[in-house]
Amino acid sequence: MCTIAPRLVNIGRHPNIEILSYSEVIDVKGEPGNFMVTLRKKPRFINEDKCTGCGTCVANCPVTNKIYLDGAEKVEIKLEPEDLEKVKGVIEEYKGVQGALVPVLQDINAGYNYLPENVLRYISEELDIPLSLIYRVATFYNAFSLKPIGKYKITVCLGTTCHVKGAPRIVDTLERELGIKIGETTEDMNFTLETVNCVGCCGLAPVMTVGEDLYGKVTLAKIPKIIEQYTGIKVS
Ligand code: FES
Repeated sequence: MCTIAPRLVNIGRHPNIEILSYSEVIDVKGEPGNFMVTLRKKPRFINEDKCTGCGTCVANCPVTNKIYLDGAEKVEIKLEPEDLEKVKGVIEEYKGVQGALVPVLQDINAGYNYLPENVLRYISEELDIPLSLIYRVATFYNAFSLKPIGKYKITVCLGTTCHVKGAPRIVDTLERELGIKIGETTEDMNFTLETVNCVGCCGLAPVMTVGEDLYGKVTLAKIPKIIEQYTGIKVS
């Protein structure tokens, strides 16, 4: 976004460019210098002259947040007693506190190691926070996951420097050792394997992290030893 945003602004302000949002190219005919393009412009269901792109409508969308519709029957979200026990403290701590969504999600994440959907719905009801806003924040930060992840998240850097220093072979070795592919979690819920583009330690390339620990100048031979530290089980 750091590089794209200024270009978008320039395009948006350019006198000879008309932005056609939510449109689709149907056909392109012609040759350089003389093109005829057919577009399908879809309805956006907003008044484009009034829209400032503030995003408030997203947070208050009556379709996503059905439970907030006037006169709509209130949907009761039921939690299992053990879940209730886990989220009770979070609700008590943050009820009525403005702007507390991130710490709320952090606390839930700490309790489950991910953000269960039924808990998010319950929190939305109890703390009166639109569900769409909760999902927007939950999917924005890398630290949150909407599906169960392993106790330790292994992240291999595939940024340019790490890539040329052999990071793809580290991924292959981890996939083989753990028996999972990128984005998957081991059956014992110990490890989730992911990749990232540059963790900012290019001088230590190739780099991988396990939970909060960072490993630099990783070689294929070091990988079994690294994994062993977290399981106590010797791997081949
Ligand atoms: S490219 Fe891997 S740390 Fe920068």
